Amino acid sequence: MDKSTLLTLLRESESYVSGQEISKLLGVSRSAVWKVIKQLREDGYDIEAVSNRGYRLKDTPDNMSKDEILSRLQTVKMGRDLYYFDETDSTNVRIRVLADEGASDGALAVSDMQTSGRGRRGRGWISPAGMNIYMSLLLEPKLSPSDAPMITLIMALAVSRGIMDLVENVEAKIKWPNDIVINGKKVCGILTEMMLEADYIRNVIVGVGINVNQDDRSLFAPEISESATSIRLENGHAVDRSELIARIMYHFEKNYDTFLEAGDLSPFKKEYEKSLVSMDKEVRVLDPKGEYTGISRGIDDKGELIVETAEGERMNVYAGEVSVRGLYGYV
Ligand code: BTN
Repeated sequence: MDKSTLLTLLRESESYVSGQEISKLLGVSRSAVWKVIKQLREDGYDIEAVSNRGYRLKDTPDNMSKDEILSRLQTVKMGRDLYYFDETDSTNVRIRVLADEGASDGALAVSDMQTSGRGRRGRGWISPAGMNIYMSLLLEPKLSPSDAPMITLIMALAVSRGIMDLVENVEAKIKWPNDIVINGKKVCGILTEMMLEADYIRNVIVGVGINVNQDDRSLFAPEISESATSIRLENGHAVDRSELIARIMYHFEKNYDTFLEAGDLSPFKKEYEKSLVSMDKEVRVLDPKGEYTGISRGIDDKGELIVETAEGERMNVYAGEVSVRGLYGYV
């Protein structure tokens, strides 16, 4: 029996659970139960023991750990093969190396901090310890490479749902294709990278950085300090990072399976458009062939953004930068 199995059981019991019950349920000896209870206490869990009644989990330490995450996962596959780091260069880099060493579909790398966090377009992602989520999910979809960008949208939807499951009174909206915003400020960025072999996908790595419990604005790089935020800065409360990871994996797994069956994003179009921060708003598209503005009209089945120009032409944006009027300093 490992620590996360016992943690799950304690967390799920409404009241005390006796050592005898635990040993029966998990098929281990009572002394094995006691040993793991001791280990959990050493890790900072406050486990009350009352004679004739049993054990009760009173408090969990405010730290993210492998056992914390595993004991909360509700998935069949996503995140079950979990690689946890107190510190690493970049979880996107780590999971790529792990994939080369045999990790497969659904493996997840999580780190408490990153020394070389990577953002999109060659930018960095400042990744201080003890407060945020930095994670990368490895996927091996049987898709054509041109369909892979849809995975970013599935992850964005999962992050937005996960946040709203746990945090009351916040609206976590999606800025197409890979940011999550709360009150017009960015709380999450997604960096999806694909490895190709000839003309098929070897794997896809979906890197997710979420500003969760950061309560100090000065930790943001100066150029984003006006446009970035954290969940805590917006709602005033701390969020359990392990629980949030588990919720995101839950939503992602459900939606990803549906997506693979459907072959496109048609099952999510409505839900996605409800979360789309630019819906029916003015946007500026930074097309390499020339910048233009228009009104964002949602997405098509492939996840491309539909932008209607002043001349009434409907343009499909499949990648790249789209600024939304009123967001991140675009006025
Ligand atoms: C963006 O520029 O908006 C994307 C940021 C993605 C950051 C995450 S943090 C976890 C993973 N590891 C990285 O090095 N980057 C991604």
